[in-house]
Amino acid sequence: MVSRFETQFAQAHQCRFGVSAANGTLTLELALAAAGIGAGDEVIVPSISFISTATAVSRVGATPVFVDIEPYSFNIDPRRVEEAVSARTRAIIPVHFGGPLADMDRLMAIAAAHGLMVIEDAAHAHGSEWSGRRAGSFGLAASFSFQNGKVMTAGEGGIVTTNDEEFAARMRSIANQGRRPGASHFHHFTLGTNFRITALQAAVLVAQLERLPQQIATRTRNAALLLREVSGIEGIRWQQIDARVNRNSWYLMLGRVEKEKLGIDRDEFCRAVREAGVPCSPYYPHTLYQNPLYQAIPCRVMPCPNAEATIQDAFWIPHNVLLGDEAFTREVADVLRHRAMLVK
Ligand SMILES: Cc1ncc(COP(=O)(O)O)c(C=O)c1O
Repeated sequence: MVSRFETQFAQAHQCRFGVSAANGTLTLELALAAAGIGAGDEVIVPSISFISTATAVSRVGATPVFVDIEPYSFNIDPRRVEEAVSARTRAIIPVHFGGPLADMDRLMAIAAAHGLMVIEDAAHAHGSEWSGRRAGSFGLAASFSFQNGKVMTAGEGGIVTTNDEEFAARMRSIANQGRRPGASHFHHFTLGTNFRITALQAAVLVAQLERLPQQIATRTRNAALLLREVSGIEGIRWQQIDARVNRNSWYLMLGRVEKEKLGIDRDEFCRAVREAGVPCSPYYPHTLYQNPLYQAIPCRVMPCPNAEATIQDAFWIPHNVLLGDEAFTREVADVLRHRAMLVK
């Protein structure tokens, strides 16, 4: 079941190999370790993400370099990446935030110009595409999560996709106690550990993968309807999605509240929408580098005015809200419109 899932997931993301693990934090650590990244190296990460994007770098002994995001795509800003490259930089980890891919044209060009590896953090982007190319197929490797909030889930789980056979073999060995295929169970060749997923999780994920295209189609249709219906709300700016994102997982529907125009702030808006029965959460309370952890352990921080602005006013609506029928989606639009007005 595990190898069947790995093969099917990798193929569905235009990759030759998939190496699964217990979660999408370990998969980031696995990719970095197999890439030989460690002490003395720097890895460029966005300043807005879940903590694992940065801690994976720290846990292999390297230093995360936090750079700003674009203000409305919520994705890492390639111009800021270029400014952050140093003699110690080894890799870039773009996060496809909420589902739409970061600007992979520019990021791949920067990586090529400076000889850097790209490891996509595709924890939000199962099935998303950039110019017809699937998330997970751009860099040396990409990490996906199947934690219970994700668009595909087995409660927990993760996978790294790659097109590099030798790199896949190295990851597989690290994740499975340093073993090698064909050798005996008690022969250990490299310093490995146990990152394995279970067959039961893999079986659930095989079924989840079958449903993914249909669910993406449903979310895409409903997101378009919802955005059309709420376009009249003055004071909410929805995530800007690049035209090259031709398929989006719609993990999160993201927006920013312009308090002056809406008349209420982000927290009041989220509370009002939630009280009317629609899940809606304030975004992260701080940038990654503002976490107490990164006040205490090594990192490098570039100026991040956009990231610091988004933590004040951004919010998200989760993907399951986009899985209803048309009538349900119109009700959600009504809630967003009326709550925005009523609270005023
Ligand atoms: C961007 C990002 N990267 C990594 C992870 C870590 O995945 P996991 O929870 O499976 O360890 C998450 C979420 O959970 C995430 O949102």
